[in-house]
Amino acid sequence: MTNMNKLELNKSELQNALNQKSGSLISESAAIVYSLNTYRIKSKASVFGFISARSGEGTTYSAVAVLEALPKLLGDVSAVLVDANLSHTDLSYQVGFPKKGWANWLANEASYDIEDVVITWKNTAGLGVLPVGVNSNFVDKKYIAKFVDVIALLKTSFDFILLDCQPFFSDKLSSQFCLGSDKVVIVIEAEKTRKFLVRIMMEELQEMKIDTLGSILNKRRYHIPQWLYKHLF
Ligand SMILES: Nc1ncnc2c1ncn2[C@@H]1O[C@H](COP(=O)(O)OP(=O)(O)OP(=O)(O)O)[C@@H](O)[C@H]1O
Ligand SMILES: [Mg+2]
Repeated sequence: MTNMNKLELNKSELQNALNQKSGSLISESAAIVYSLNTYRIKSKASVFGFISARSGEGTTYSAVAVLEALPKLLGDVSAVLVDANLSHTDLSYQVGFPKKGWANWLANEASYDIEDVVITWKNTAGLGVLPVGVNSNFVDKKYIAKFVDVIALLKTSFDFILLDCQPFFSDKLSSQFCLGSDKVVIVIEAEKTRKFLVRIMMEELQEMKIDTLGSILNKRRYHIPQWLYKHLF
């Protein structure tokens, strides 16, 4: 783990990213990295969940964008993105769906260190993905309740722990995965998700004492042609 004070925000890189087309994922993820880091310094927090109301809004895509933006903006940082979506283990597939993951570890199936099953993300030092692994029992409630143990362990090794959480309304257990988060980032697909659904989700998260840090408006459509947009903004 990096010494917290050693992480210095690259302000020109941040400025470059923020100057990208307004609302692009590059500028949205840079803004999120800035918020995560500010909150991390202020509150010594390191666990941040990414969650959407419904499936397909771009939670995995956005969480990966934030993971990749971390070293660009903070330099020598260590971060792990955890696949915490049992309804669609897409992130685990992206790293080859290894047999070993957090679910096996929780089921005490194997005697390996949880850190050993973190897969390096795209050969980038310091960045990793923790897959679910294969375990037919992993949907058992007791394992989900123990998911916080995985987070506790990762906290000792990584500066940032990002959780690719299950969509809030996918099933009753979804929200259990964000319980270990210090804050959550809401991912909203532009022009798709109804406002009232997002509001209900946020109210329910608040009742569970899970606070929101910010939101990512994903897949924003640009109805104005790009050449004209550039002249206007
Ligand atoms: N900003 C984007 N630009 C281009 N493609 C995107 C963007 N966001 C998401 N996608 C694509 O849309 C699809 C759904 O995105 P993603 O898998 O991230 O959704 P999700 O919210 O994680 O879904 P689920 O809850 O089912 O896991 C994927 O094919 C992804 O590559
Ligand atoms: Mg996903």
